[in-house]
Amino acid sequence: MTILRSTYAAFTAAVYDPFLALGERRGMAAHRRALLAGATGSVLEIGAGTGLNLEAHPPGQHPLVLTEPDPAMARRLERTAARQRPDAVVVRAGAEDLPFADGTFDVVVSTLVLCTVPDPDAAVAELRRVLRPEGRLLYLEHVRSADPRLARRQDRLAPAWRRFAAGCVCNRPTLELLAGAFTLAPPARATWAGMPSIVHPLAIGTAVPRSAGAGRAREVAAVSGRPAPPSTR
Ligand SMILES: C[S@@+](CC[C@H](N)C(=O)[O-])C[C@H]1O[C@@H](n2cnc3c(N)ncnc32)[C@H](O)[C@@H]1O
Repeated sequence: MTILRSTYAAFTAAVYDPFLALGERRGMAAHRRALLAGATGSVLEIGAGTGLNLEAHPPGQHPLVLTEPDPAMARRLERTAARQRPDAVVVRAGAEDLPFADGTFDVVVSTLVLCTVPDPDAAVAELRRVLRPEGRLLYLEHVRSADPRLARRQDRLAPAWRRFAAGCVCNRPTLELLAGAFTLAPPARATWAGMPSIVHPLAIGTAVPRSAGAGRAREVAAVSGRPAPPSTR
C-alpha cells in the first residue's frame, strides 16, 4: 500500500507541470507574476510544488524559503530551485506545522495550496503566526463558486476530483477560511482558463493578519491601498 501510494505521488508530481501547462499559457503564469511582484523582504512560499512560481519571484528577497511536504514534489522543487533560484531554501514541511518562529516573514505566499491542505484552519493559523504583524499574505487560490449551478457541480464532483487531484478540495470556501485570521482586501476574481470548470473560480489578493479593535481599520487601509482613517484617540 505504501509503495502504491508513493508511486502514485511520484506519478502526480511527474504529470503536474504538463497538466497545468495550458492553464499557465492561458493566464495563470501572468497571474503568478502579477501577484509575486509584491513579494519583497523575507518571503515564505508554502506548498511550492514543482516550483512553478520560481521564475516570478523577484530578485533580492532575503531569505526566500519554499516549503513542500510531498517528497516527490520536493525533489522536483529542489532541482528547479537549484537551477533558477540557488539562493532559495527548500524545507520539507506541511503548512499546518511550520518550523519557523513567530513573526519570521514579511510575506507569505500561497498559490493553489489551501485547497489541498488536510487541515486548512490549522494552516491558516500557522500562516498568520509566522508572518510579522505588519506582514502580508499573497494568495492565489481556486475557490468555491459564487454561481449556485457551478457550486453544485463542484459539490457533486468533489469526491472524485479529490482522489484524482491528490487531495484537492474543489469546493472549499477558502476566502471564508482566510477571513477567520486575516483581513482581506477585496480579491480580484479570475477564471483558471484551460482547466476543468470545477476549478475555474480564482480569488487573487492580499491579506494582513487580523487584529482586534482599532487596528482593523488600519489593516483594511493597508490591504486596500487607501489612506488609513485618522485615529480617534
Ligand atoms: C496544486 S499544488 C500547487 C503547487 C504550487 N503552489 C503551484 O502554485 O503550482 C498543491 C501543493 O500543495 C502541497 N501540499 C499538500 N498538502 C500540504 C500541506 N499540508 N501543507 C502544505 N502544502 C501541501 C502539495 O504537495 C502540492 O505541492
